[in-house]
Amino acid sequence: MAALRLRNWVARDELERFVGGAAVGVDLMGLHFPNRVGLAAGFDKNARDIDALGRLGFGFIEVGTVTPRPQPGNPRPNLFRLPADEALVNRLGFNNEGAAAAARRLEARRYRGICGVNIGKNFDTPLEDAVKDYARCLRTVYGVADYVTVNVSSPNTPGLRGLQNPNALRPLLLELADLREQLQSAHGKRVPLLVKLSPDLSDEELASIAQQLAELPVEGVVATNTTISRPPGLKSPCAVEAGGLSGRPLHSRSVAVVRALRAALGPDFPIVGVGGIVSPERGVQTRAAGADLLQVYTGLIYRGPGLPVELLDLLAAKSSP
Ligand SMILES: Cc1cc2nc3c(=O)[nH]c(=O)nc-3n(C[C@H](O)[C@H](O)[C@H](O)COP(=O)(O)O)c2cc1C
Repeated sequence: MAALRLRNWVARDELERFVGGAAVGVDLMGLHFPNRVGLAAGFDKNARDIDALGRLGFGFIEVGTVTPRPQPGNPRPNLFRLPADEALVNRLGFNNEGAAAAARRLEARRYRGICGVNIGKNFDTPLEDAVKDYARCLRTVYGVADYVTVNVSSPNTPGLRGLQNPNALRPLLLELADLREQLQSAHGKRVPLLVKLSPDLSDEELASIAQQLAELPVEGVVATNTTISRPPGLKSPCAVEAGGLSGRPLHSRSVAVVRALRAALGPDFPIVGVGGIVSPERGVQTRAAGADLLQVYTGLIYRGPGLPVELLDLLAAKSSP
C-alpha cells in the first residue's frame, strides 16, 4: 500500500514537471498556458472532474457548455459510438446543472492549469433572447473563469448555429464585450472571450466571420465543434443517428477551417484547434495548420487517457532542432 502511494506520488510529480515548465508553456490572450494541449468542452460539462482530468497532463480544461438554468438535455439514447470510424455521434443537447453549479466547483478547484468556461443558451429560451442567456452565464462564471467561450455552434440546440450569421453574431459579441468591460472593473481582471465555430460553415461564411472577429473585441476562436455532415465512407451503423459527429472523420474539415482562419486572421490571432485529433500525429497536423492551442475529446475515448502526454511528447519532438 505504502509502495503504491509512493509510486503514485513519484508519477504525479514527474507528470507535473513534464506538462509544465518553460519549454512547453505558452503565453496567449494574457494567460499563461502550462502547455498547448487542452480538454474540449462537453467532457466535464459541470466542472465535476477538473482536478482528476488535470492529472492527465492537460495544460487547460474547458468546462461546459453551461446554460443559465439547469436542463436535462435530450432523451436517451443521445450518444453513440462509431468504433470502426474512431468517431462519436452525440445529440446530448446541453445537459447540465446550470452555470452557478459549475462556478461553485470551479472556485474550489486545485488544478493549476487554465480553466475556460463554455457558455450557451437554454433550449427553451427564444433565439431573440439568446443574448440574455449568454450574458447571465458570463456574469455567473466571470469571477472563476480564466477565459469564456461563446458557443454558437452546437448542432443540438435548435437555431443556435444561426447565431453565427454575421447579423446575429456581431450584436451578440458586442453586447458580451460591453458586459465584460463592466465585469472587468468589478472583478479586477480581464477574462478573454473566444467564439466556437461550426465546421459546417461554407468557406464564404467562414471568411465573413473571420472579418468580423478581427474587428470585434474578442480574443480568440475555437475551431471546430461537431459536424452534422456525414463524410462518405463511414462504416459504423450508428453513423445514421441524428446529432453532431466528432472524431477521425471530422479531422480534415477541422484542419481546413483552422487553416482558413489562420490565413484570414493573420499570424497573431489566437486559434484553438479542435476536431478529430485522435492521434498525436493528427494533433501535429492541426498545429501545423495554424492552431496555437489544441483540444481533444473523442481521441480520449478511443486512444485513451495517455493521448495528452503522447501529443505533448510529439509536439516537443517536432519543435526541437
Ligand atoms: C459527447 C460530446 C459532447 C459535447 N458537448 C459539447 C458542449 O457541451 N459544448 C461544446 O462547445 N462542444 C461540445 N462537444 C464538442 C467538442 O468540444 C469538440 O468540439 C468536438 O467533439 C470535436 O473534437 P473531437 O473530434 O476531438 O471530439 C461535445 C462533443 C462530444 C463528443
